[in-house]
Amino acid sequence: MEMKQQLAADQALVEEALARYGDQWPTLGDLKEAMNYSLLSGGKRIRPVLTLAVCRLFGGDPEKALPFACGLEMIHTYSLIHDDLPCMDDDDLRRGRPTNHRVYGEATAVLAGDGLLTAAFGVLVQAELSPAQIVRGVACLSQAAGPAGMVGGQILDLAGEGKTLTYEEILRIQNLKTGCMIEAAARLGAIAADSTPQEEEAAAAYARKIGLAFQIRDDLLDVLGDEAELGKPIGSDRENEKSTFVGLQGIEGCERLIAELTEEAITALTAYPGREFLCQLARMLAGRTR
Ligand code: IPE
Ligand code: IPE
Ligand code: MG
Ligand code: MG
Ligand code: MG
Repeated sequence: MEMKQQLAADQALVEEALARYGDQWPTLGDLKEAMNYSLLSGGKRIRPVLTLAVCRLFGGDPEKALPFACGLEMIHTYSLIHDDLPCMDDDDLRRGRPTNHRVYGEATAVLAGDGLLTAAFGVLVQAELSPAQIVRGVACLSQAAGPAGMVGGQILDLAGEGKTLTYEEILRIQNLKTGCMIEAAARLGAIAADSTPQEEEAAAAYARKIGLAFQIRDDLLDVLGDEAELGKPIGSDRENEKSTFVGLQGIEGCERLIAELTEEAITALTAYPGREFLCQLARMLAGRTR
């Protein structure tokens, strides 16, 4: 299958599965509506697609990786709902629509995030994999999403507002807040395929590179992007006085970094003949405009 077709097929698989999970939650106040408002609102689904692709690369059945992929996307969605809150980045637009708190109010937005975060682990354990694989998957995602990963990165990101950070400090924040979840997406695919440790580490190395490139691209698009296409506000980082690679390296420096990281990502998979989809995905993400 062509790369674009495979991508669309995987995105559709994820979309359907998320809609099924979203349908199962009880109707209590407007919680379910608020959770599904953000979950089923047209994200790019890059992380769950990565999980399925890595699973396929190592000979696993992508259908069996779907609960892992969807659980991770639920946590990612919760992180966006909370990231947009007035006490964090204070943004009004997400995935082309008003942010969750703008529609449902802050308290419901906090709870919608909590609901997605908690339910995510319940989705992971529904995977038709061995108990050992499920435990590895839960441990991996918990590590990546929690204080040693995304949440840790988010607090450093907020603490850095209004300060001029060094290259190393920005690198640490970007790796934690964004890189860890993208690395986990790849690891979950490897775990679902019951891959060897070497295979999992190769996928993780690839994902760390594209993860960093992804956040640098995100920071670039915050300056150069088109709001309508991006579906979120531009200029948010400047308004919040965030230090990003754009401030430090300039636009061309960032583009060079993204290109280098993308080639390094591809190199990390040299040993695997089925890597073509992931190579093309890395190149597509390097030039993305949304
Ligand atoms: C946005 O992630 C937040 C970052 C970590 C950069 P995405 O760009 O993947 O957002 P969606 O899921 O497509 O909306
Ligand atoms: C957010 O980084 C990363 C998360 C963990 C949610 P940003 O704050 O730059 O993400 P956007 O630009 O709002 O999507
Ligand atoms: Mg943020
Ligand atoms: Mg933000
Ligand atoms: Mg951003």
